[in-house]
Amino acid sequence: MKILIVGSGGREHAIAWKIAQSKKAEKIYCAPGNAGIAEYAECVSIGAMEFDKLVAFAKEKQIDLTVIGMDDPLVGGIVDLFEAEGLRVFGPRKNAAILEGSKAFSKELMKKYQIPTADYEIFDSADAALTYLETASFPIVLKADGLALGKGVLICNNLEEARAGVKTIMLDKQFGAAGNRLVIEEFITGPEVSVLSFVDGNTIRIMTSAQDHKRAKDGDRGLNTGGMGTFSPSPFYTEEVDAFCRKYIYQPTVDAMKAEGRVFQGIIFFGLMLTEKGPRVLEYNARFGDPEAQVVLPRMKNDIIEVMEACIDGKLSEIELEFEENAAVCVVLASDGYPEKYQKGFVIDGLEKIKEKEGYYAFHAGTKFDSDGKILTNGGRVLGVTAKGEDLKMARSNAYQAVEWITFENKYFRHDIGKAIDETN
Ligand code: AMP
Ligand code: GLY
Repeated sequence: MKILIVGSGGREHAIAWKIAQSKKAEKIYCAPGNAGIAEYAECVSIGAMEFDKLVAFAKEKQIDLTVIGMDDPLVGGIVDLFEAEGLRVFGPRKNAAILEGSKAFSKELMKKYQIPTADYEIFDSADAALTYLETASFPIVLKADGLALGKGVLICNNLEEARAGVKTIMLDKQFGAAGNRLVIEEFITGPEVSVLSFVDGNTIRIMTSAQDHKRAKDGDRGLNTGGMGTFSPSPFYTEEVDAFCRKYIYQPTVDAMKAEGRVFQGIIFFGLMLTEKGPRVLEYNARFGDPEAQVVLPRMKNDIIEVMEACIDGKLSEIELEFEENAAVCVVLASDGYPEKYQKGFVIDGLEKIKEKEGYYAFHAGTKFDSDGKILTNGGRVLGVTAKGEDLKMARSNAYQAVEWITFENKYFRHDIGKAIDETN
C-alpha cells in the first residue's frame, strides 16, 4: 500500500515509524513531515491545511490510505473532502471531529448522555460570563470553545483573574474565533490520565494508558507547553478505573456520537481526571496525543494499518489490541526559552547512537536538514527522546541516559518526567 501521513510533529514521526513496521506499507509519504520522518517517508512540502493540494497529491500518487495526524485539518473537514473524491482516509469526518473542535459541543454531549465530567455553563457573551462569575466560587476554569493549540484553558484563582481571563478569551480574542464562546467549568482535582482509543463508529478498542507533563519546568512549574514529556502506562489507571471508564465513558461516548448522527471513526483521546468521586472527562481529542503517541505506539504490538483499516471498514470488533508488558518514557528536548522566546538552527549530534539501540527512539518534533544534510533544531520542542524498560523506573532511567547522548547548543529538558510516579511505586 501507498500511505500518506499528514502532519509534521513528534506524533507524526511516531505514527510514521509505526506504519513503517506494517507489512502492508510499501511506500510512505508525509506532508509536510520533518527531518526524522524523512527516514521512513518521502516528505512533500504541502501544508496540513492545503486540502486541495493534498487531494491532488493523493490522486496523482494513487495513495491507498491517508492518515491525518493533526486536529486542525480534521476539524476543518479534510476527511469529508478526501471521501468526496473517493480517497480512503483515516480520521473522523468534520461532524464528528467537533468532539475536539468545540468544547461547548462536547460538554453538552456529556450532559445529555450522562457521561461524567465537571459541571459547567456556556456563554456567548462576555457580559453574561462576567455576571455569572460575580457569584461563582474559586478556583474556576475558563475554556475557549474552539481549538487554541492547547492554550485556551485558564485556571483562575479569584474573581480578578477570571475577569481578566474573560477579557483575554472573549474580548481581546487571543485565541481568535475559538473564543467566541466560553465554557466556565467547575475546578476539579486528581491525577490526569490520557487514554487513546481506536473507534469504527460502533466498536471502541482502548490503547494502553499514558500521562503527559504540560508545564515547562520541573515540579510542574512554569508555563503550559505542548507537552514536555510523557510515560506509559499510568500506575493510576487501575483495573477498577478501567472498568468504570469502559462502562460510563468510552462506549457511551461512541454511542452518543452515533445517536447524534455523528458517527465517529478514528482516534478518540480521552483526557481524564481521576477525582475522589471517580473518573471525569476533562476533554476529548479526535487524534493521537502528542507526545502520548510517542510512548503508546512503541508498546503496541498490532499492525497499525490493519487496525486503521478495520476502523474505516467498521470491522474493529474483529481485532483485539495488544500492548507489550513493559513501560516507556519520553523526555522532550526543547530549545531553552520554550514556550516563549528561543533560538533555533543549532546542529544536533548523537542521533545515531539512539538509532542503533533497540527500544530507544528519537522522535523529531522540530528539526530540519541544512544544505549539507546535517540535522538542525527548528522549533521550541525539538525531539522526543523515548526509551522502553521493563517497568517505569527502568524506562525512565533508560530515557534519561539517552537524553545525555544527544547534544545541541540550547538543549533544555525536564528532569522529572515520570518521577513522582516512579517514586510512589
Ligand atoms: P483541557 O485542554 O480541557 O484538557 O485542559 C488543559 C488542562 O487544564 C488539563 O490537562 C488540566 O490540567 C486542566 N484542567 C482542565 N479542566 C479542568 C478542570 N475542570 N479542573 C481542573 N483542571 C482542569
Ligand atoms: N498531550 C495532549 C494533547 O495531545 O492534546
